[in-house]
Amino acid sequence: MTINIVGLGYIGLPTALMFAKSGLKIVGSDYNTNLVKSLTEGKLTFEEKGLEKLFQEAISNGIEFTTDYQKTHTYIVAVPTPYIKNSKKLDPKYVISAVNSILDVCEKGAALIIESTISPGTIDKYIRPEIEKRDYVIGEDIHLLHAPERIIPGNMIYELEHNSRTIGADSLEIGEKVKGLYANFCKAEIIVTDIRSAEMSKVVENTYRDINIAFANELAKICRTDNMDVYEIIKTANMHPRVNILQPGPGVGGHCISVDPWFLVGDYPDLTNLILTARKINDSMPRHVLGRIRDIMREHGIKDISKVGLYGLAYKENVDDTRESPTLQLLERMDEHLAFGVKIYDPFVKTRIVDHQFMNFEDFLNEIEILVIMVGHDHIKNNMELIKDKLILDTKNICVFDGAYKL
Ligand SMILES: NC(=O)c1ccc[n+]([C@@H]2O[C@H](COP(=O)([O-])OP(=O)(O)OC[C@H]3O[C@@H](n4cnc5c(N)ncnc54)[C@H](O)[C@@H]3O)[C@@H](O)[C@H]2O)c1
Repeated sequence: MTINIVGLGYIGLPTALMFAKSGLKIVGSDYNTNLVKSLTEGKLTFEEKGLEKLFQEAISNGIEFTTDYQKTHTYIVAVPTPYIKNSKKLDPKYVISAVNSILDVCEKGAALIIESTISPGTIDKYIRPEIEKRDYVIGEDIHLLHAPERIIPGNMIYELEHNSRTIGADSLEIGEKVKGLYANFCKAEIIVTDIRSAEMSKVVENTYRDINIAFANELAKICRTDNMDVYEIIKTANMHPRVNILQPGPGVGGHCISVDPWFLVGDYPDLTNLILTARKINDSMPRHVLGRIRDIMREHGIKDISKVGLYGLAYKENVDDTRESPTLQLLERMDEHLAFGVKIYDPFVKTRIVDHQFMNFEDFLNEIEILVIMVGHDHIKNNMELIKDKLILDTKNICVFDGAYKL
């Protein structure tokens, strides 16, 4: 039996490799010809701990990559699900397009598993109609499932194996079958539920994270106005046995936490006060960082913004994923204020994606007076000696010496 994984990005590729490692026959499809060419030539398309080894194992087990869709019995769809900027609702166009390409070739009775994160009701609203348009009977000609993913970039391989999972299905029988499939590599508990509950629980998980981060960020702002140490206060409050406040930061990025809560805001605008407020607080953090940079420049009589360097372009530590990253959000804000010329460096981002981006850490440091730590990569933690003569704005609270400015 061949499993066709459609969409070979941050989620689809590691998933395909895990299935292949477990001995199943896997074909990975992506319409990006460069990406498929690269994978076929044995070159990975992004960096991730343990991915190279897994890739080699999958290649030995005969995994194939192609731009075509396979005629088979099982499909896993891991294509992007962005939100529409104005309405904040999910944009289902990639999922709809992938599902139609699959419907063009699939065998009768095929299982179509959507792994992409989707807002509650997406399968009913957008996917079932595509299938019914073709006069297929759902539950006979096609089985629909939703198996959302929880893994975190930077620890994906471990989490694919050890995170619990949810399978949403129309029938328990097919849900159990697909559970058996994932159990080929997933050692944790796999829960079978209905599709809508699976859709909702995934979005709720990321929304929960967003709200909790927003609370820490709001505390950081409150403490800043009255010169209190937010980290000390959070540390002390967390001694309470039932309190667990997260750490503040320069904003929330990535393809999940900063995106998924918008699905609920878009679909339930009258009911999402807390969720919307949390989103706004987290989106305001790059502006807060900009204010802090301005404070430090004023205090030290620095007028030239090109003396400021932002460390980190990725949205989190030790990954190269820059989607929706706080640094990109901050640069956008700076552009709006005509503050051009700030320097940027990220050891993980090896192609030039913004102006004034440096490829060498020492060259970057030589050009700046103020260093803004936007991402706590291990690289900077291991190079504290090199930065201690700079004025530092440490938005991640990782500096080991005194004197760094904080959020
Ligand atoms: N990245 C994460 O950390 C993460 C975590 C959990 C869930 N998710 C969810 O997983 C889904 C995929 O995210 P990602 O980060 O892997 O995205 P990605 O952009 O890295 O990869 C998606 C891939 O799908 C391909 N694609 C798009 N439409 C296609 C089509 N019709 N046919 C074939 N290929 C197609 C693209 O070329 C791309 O390579 C999203 O819904 C996301 O919200 C992501």
